[in-house]
Amino acid sequence: MKIIIINIKEIVQTERAERVSVRSGAGMSVLDNIRDGYIVINGEFIEEFGEMSNLTEEQTTGAKIIDAAGRMVLPAFCDSHTHLVYAGSREMEYIDKIRGLSYQEIAARGGGILNSAQLLHNTSEKDLLNQTMARAWEIIRFGTGAVEIKSGYGLTVEDEVKMLRVAREIGSSTPLTVKTTFLGAHAVPLRYRDRREEYVDEIITEMIPAVVSENLADFIDVFTEDGFFSIADTERIFEAGAKYGLRPKVHANQMSFSGGVQVGVKYNAISVDHLEFTGEEEFAALKGTGTIATVLPGSTFFLEMEYAPVRDMINFGLPVAIATNYNPGSSPSGDMKFMMALAALKMKMTPYEVINASTINGAYAMGISNTHGTIAVGKVANLMVTKPIPSIEYIPYAISTPLVERMFLKGREIDVR
Ligand code: NIG
Repeated sequence: MKIIIINIKEIVQTERAERVSVRSGAGMSVLDNIRDGYIVINGEFIEEFGEMSNLTEEQTTGAKIIDAAGRMVLPAFCDSHTHLVYAGSREMEYIDKIRGLSYQEIAARGGGILNSAQLLHNTSEKDLLNQTMARAWEIIRFGTGAVEIKSGYGLTVEDEVKMLRVAREIGSSTPLTVKTTFLGAHAVPLRYRDRREEYVDEIITEMIPAVVSENLADFIDVFTEDGFFSIADTERIFEAGAKYGLRPKVHANQMSFSGGVQVGVKYNAISVDHLEFTGEEEFAALKGTGTIATVLPGSTFFLEMEYAPVRDMINFGLPVAIATNYNPGSSPSGDMKFMMALAALKMKMTPYEVINASTINGAYAMGISNTHGTIAVGKVANLMVTKPIPSIEYIPYAISTPLVERMFLKGREIDVR
């Protein structure tokens, strides 16, 4: 049956005449919105939308009508960088952090990624799925409809595969659209202490083939950073992934000017993520390429670092996506609206820019902007009906006020109460 959402105060982020796969530079300030509108959903897809004055009685016959008076409708958020699959939590490290230890010092004491790897190793696949499922429903309630999920807390063949199976299962048993990323090169496990290159050998000869044999990954990622993986390691891993058609993403320039951006561009990464340590050299490397800059304000906030220079990136003409980086160590939040608020306040992005960065540009960073990220005829009906709100600007301004009243994912209404 058709569903028609009527009396929409404003349909935000439509695509009428021109379709784009990504919005860059000044284009990030463009939103094509319709006041007093309607949207027709047919099956999984958006069939039609427009101004209420053009909706005929004939169109509404036999359809389920939803009156959205006073509410806006946006495309569901596209969160292109998460570590949603993890076991337990790391609040004890948070206490260490409050007492003054840095992220690196916590990691050196056996905390950090290796702590999560140990917890995950001791957790069954079923339990891991249950824990991840709770987070998946949490982010749906925040307005997310498509999400990228990484491995990287396994660090053995079995546990990396276990994580990615769970991620795929989230894609098939929730209404989320899920893209998965193999991140075996997230940290060097203890069994390879001082033998990092041999761990890279294991990633290449054992992990990638195992992951590919079950079709568990859409992308391949490396944490390219001093103390984690070098440029040479990153190149070896990307070359191995390319043999199986895995396009890179990169944890780039989070703690230093690591060269992560440049290596990402060299290997045609779909996105380079973090980018706290970037400047003109990195911007120039990205300009005119198919690689999108993705910023993760939640981890910059949580780690109390300097924010990525997003204003300069946009002024340089680059496209920018925002993602949550939902993970137990540096960003224990999957709330896209909170990330938008941080991006506006701390990175000086305008409300229109943060909406583009969280919808169409997030979709681009997952390779799905032809089907997600805007309200367009034929795109997947992933829509959020807001609570009554006065303006678009209110969205990043009302930092902690819940935004979502109703969610439609793949054309079906989802219970978000
Ligand atoms: O993106 N930088 C690497 N990975 C995560 C942190 C993971 C963790 O601490 O568990 C990040 O911030």
